[in-house]
Amino acid sequence: MPYARVNGNMLFYRESGEGPAAVFIHGFPLDHSLWLDQLKGLAHVRHCIAPDLRGFGKSDPTVDGVLTMEMLADDIAGLLEALGIANADIIGLSMGGYVALALWELRPDLVRSLGLIDTRAGADGPDARAARDAMVDRILDKGRGAFADEIVRAQLGRTPSRRAQARLRSMIEGTRYETLVASLAGMKERKDRTALLPTISVPSVVIGGEEDTLIPPDKARELSAAIPGARTTIVPRAGHLPPIEQPDPVNQALIELFEGRKVVWWR
Ligand code: MLT
Repeated sequence: MPYARVNGNMLFYRESGEGPAAVFIHGFPLDHSLWLDQLKGLAHVRHCIAPDLRGFGKSDPTVDGVLTMEMLADDIAGLLEALGIANADIIGLSMGGYVALALWELRPDLVRSLGLIDTRAGADGPDARAARDAMVDRILDKGRGAFADEIVRAQLGRTPSRRAQARLRSMIEGTRYETLVASLAGMKERKDRTALLPTISVPSVVIGGEEDTLIPPDKARELSAAIPGARTTIVPRAGHLPPIEQPDPVNQALIELFEGRKVVWWR
């Protein structure tokens, strides 16, 4: 199993394929296994690398009280360095998109193209910040099982497959409590990167789930409109997690991004 020592932590990553590198950054409260269909479906065009972020999955547990987006972005930079990779296609889902945008700000030289999936550039407002605190209380009070019920309802589309429900539940129930708390604190204090969007000069695609209630398609289109030349793919019959709910159109959109061609599933 591959690990790399990055910023004092052992980071686990799963990889597949050969060729130019593509790094897949998972969301909250997930792990690298979010991307298993991408590791399989894109191995013929890319060296796919899906890490577990610090504290998540099989990576080292963390004692950090706050996992900031900058810290996680710096870990991605460190992972690329450890693997001897000069730049990569950077794909991030939701919190992974926050990290991808932080990476663009901190180390744009590492980013060959950008895939932003069900994510946003803005910061949390007062209500969202209060909701983070309430979520931490519920996690500590009721445990991961009840939290998984909540997230399965919130993140999957209207008619989730059993496979998607099972995969999501495994990821949530496998995430350490301290990581849940520290990453919620990091997202709560993340900075607004809206002003950064017009500076994105690499090929980009924004992918959204048609049934995502957390970041609805209109928000995905708004994000895309702010990035010069970005394309938009809205994935039918998917909520917040198109990579596991509808992997084929996601893989297709990413292939089109990598090849710089028009997106077939565009609408
Ligand atoms: C995620 O999917 O990573 C989270 O829902 C993002 C967030 O809570 O802002």
